[in-house]
Parts: sequence; C-alpha cells; structure tokens
Amino acid sequence: MSISSIGVVGAGTMGNGIAQACAVRGIEVVMVDIDDAAVQRGLATVSGSLDRLVKKDKLSAADKAGAMARIRGSTSYDDLRAAQLVIEAATENESLKFKILAQLDAMLPAQTIIGSNTSSISITKLAAATQRPDRVIGMHFFNPVPMMALVEIIRGLQTSDATHDAVHALAVALGKTPITVKNAPGFVVNRILVPMINEAFFVLAEGLASAEDIDAGMKLGCNHPIGPLALADMIGLDVCLAVMNVYVAETNDSKYRPCPLLKEMVAAGWLGRKTGRGVYRY
Ligand SMILES: NC(=O)c1ccc[n+]([C@@H]2O[C@H](COP(=O)([O-])OP(=O)(O)OC[C@H]3O[C@@H](n4cnc5c(N)ncnc54)[C@H](O)[C@@H]3O)[C@@H](O)[C@H]2O)c1
Repeated sequence: MSISSIGVVGAGTMGNGIAQACAVRGIEVVMVDIDDAAVQRGLATVSGSLDRLVKKDKLSAADKAGAMARIRGSTSYDDLRAAQLVIEAATENESLKFKILAQLDAMLPAQTIIGSNTSSISITKLAAATQRPDRVIGMHFFNPVPMMALVEIIRGLQTSDATHDAVHALAVALGKTPITVKNAPGFVVNRILVPMINEAFFVLAEGLASAEDIDAGMKLGCNHPIGPLALADMIGLDVCLAVMNVYVAETNDSKYRPCPLLKEMVAAGWLGRKTGRGVYRY
C-alpha cells in the first residue's frame, strides 16, 4: 500500500512538523487538535517554517502554497476517516494516548494504520488496546521534524509486515532514513543517548573535568555536534531523569541508576534552558 493521505493527532511541536514534512512531499494531511487555537498555532508554525525555507531559496513560493493547501486543520476526529494512516502525536501521557487510540480504533475504517510518535510508551501495549493490533506501529520522528533525517519505526510484537512495509515506504518518500526497531523502553536512539547523558553527570559529579571540558571532549573526540551536558539542558534535566527512571522501572537493571547530581539539580528546579539554569546558566 502506498500512503498518500495521512491524519495527525496533535498540532504541537511534533504534529505540525510531521504535517509539514508530509505536505511538502505531496501527501494530503488532516491535522487535528483539541481546540481551534491549537490548530491555528500549528498551521501558523508550518507557514512560518516554510517562509524561512522560501527566504533561503530552498522552496519556491508556489511550492509553499501547494504544501499549505494540502494541510487541513480540524478539531473533529471525523475528518480523519479518509486518511490511510493516522499518526498520534499528542501530549506524552499514557492514559491520554490509550484514550486517543481507543477513540481512533472505534471510528477509523478497519484497514487504516494507526501510528504513534510516542517517545516512551510501549507500542505493544498501545496495539493491544485496539481491535487492530497488527495495524499499530511506532513512527518516532525527531525534533525538528522537517530537518532531522531519522525516523525510528517501532514494531510492536503484533505489528504485521504489511504495516511495517507501508510505513517504511512512507518514511523513505518523505526523504527520511528509517531504521526498524523492536519495541523496548527508549527504543534504540534514546536507549543509548540518555544513559550517555546520565554518565556525563556522573563524570561531572566525580569532578573528573569541568562541564565545559566534558562537552568539548565529546564534541571534538567523538564528533558529536553538541556536548552531552549542553544537550541535557536542551532536552530538560527533568525529562532525562524521567527517562532513566523508566529504564529502571521497566528493566530493574541497576546500570540505569540516575546520577544523584542529576536528581539533585532537578530537585533544585535547575531543569536546563527552559528554567534559565541547568548545567549552564542562560
Ligand atoms: N518534542 C520532542 O522533541 C519530541 C521528540 C520525539 C517524540 N516526541 C513525542 O511526540 C509527542 C508530541 O510531543 P510534542 O513535543 O509535539 O508535544 P506538544 O505539547 O508540543 O504538542 C502536543 C499537542 O497535542 C494536543 N493534544 C492533547 N490532547 C489531545 C487530544 N485528545 N486530541 C488531539 N490533540 C491533543 C495538545 O493540545 C498539543 O497541541 C509526544 O508523544 C512526545 O513524547 C516529542
């Protein structure tokens, strides 16, 4: 099956990025959020992002207009019925996601694939909560979606080959590079990335080097574009801690023990850029 029409649930950071990435590649998009203000904010973000591409001569004004015409904003799930794939990109909250998936499962045609952009919730569990577990899959885009080349495609235990192949082909059609991953806490990228950040806090706490030198070491020695501590400030120290806590809870493996310094900084409210102070001051 070749996917030419999608629905997106959630018009926030990720939802509007997914809508943009699809619309510029000729795919019809319906983007749904809970109220009109959120839908309009999502559409305005896409328009602003495309304007920047036009200014940089990376997109023509006509192509921008074409892409915008392919995105329909709505507050009604009914408008998702015509989509071949609906990607859930709503707020990261387990009970909310289960509620949305049940709602989609009850109203979408049987053949429609349901994808989720969740960073942490089990795709196998989400699939099991529907009547179409073979047509549920994780489609984990990275932020900012229009710029980032990777899509992690997460197969729940029940996901069929046909579902996987259709979503994989869509990711390629969007100009992305998909990797196929089995369902597990953190999938692949965050499973490796967040423990590395946690280890950087241990190195800092042990006084082995300054924050600046730890970040310079990983940038210059490993060719990372940003050091792990500066990255923690961008992601949010609270988010990093929550992810480590999920790994501990799901695996019971002490290798995921959150660094006490990370916990202490979160307790102090030093969450990173969003609070003006994390490892660094902003
Ligand atoms: N932000 C990131 O860097 C990032 C990266 C990868 C994956 N994710 C995942 O993507 C998902 C969305 O994250 P985000 O950063 O875009 O969040 P966000 O807060 O920017 O946007 C979420 C949107 O979902 C809407 N929403 C809430 N309940 C809804 C409902 N019942 N129906 C329709 N819309 C609803 C909200 O109004 C909001 O506009 C989460 O699962 C998150 O874990 C985020």
